[in-house]
Amino acid sequence: MLRREFLIGTLAISTFSESVFASADALIVNRTESCGCCGAWVERMISAGLKTEVNFVNDEVLRLIKSQLAIPVDLSSCHTATIGSYFIEGHVPAEDIRRLLIERPKALGLSVPGMPIGSPGMEMGSNKEPFETLLVFENGKTQAFNSHTPQTSV
Ligand code: CU
Ligand code: CU
Repeated sequence: MLRREFLIGTLAISTFSESVFASADALIVNRTESCGCCGAWVERMISAGLKTEVNFVNDEVLRLIKSQLAIPVDLSSCHTATIGSYFIEGHVPAEDIRRLLIERPKALGLSVPGMPIGSPGMEMGSNKEPFETLLVFENGKTQAFNSHTPQTSV
């Protein structure tokens, strides 16, 4: 019930103050128009129930966003999202984002570097490779946050 009231309230207010509410628990995705796997990832996030907004930007702006969020170049991927104060870089599974928001570790965000085949948005039939979701700290160091083997990959 509370949740529903919140959503209605947000909708009502968002007509004149959209940017104020482009935060909290909304996933804000920055992507380029030309990259198809970003769109596929966004669809996976929406169907997982995440409130999702998409900003189409050009490559230069996307690079700028990545550097402003202090995403190390070697950990970067195609799209860059934020949720609350965290960044979500690349094809991160929705379950990892949920866990991040529950555990709220002292970190900058999550990254799935590159574009592993079989990660959400990178489905290629039965082709799957294992990949890790990394927790990225302010000093650029990382820690494995979740391991996705082909059997458990979501
Ligand atoms: Cu991609
Ligand atoms: Cu993409």
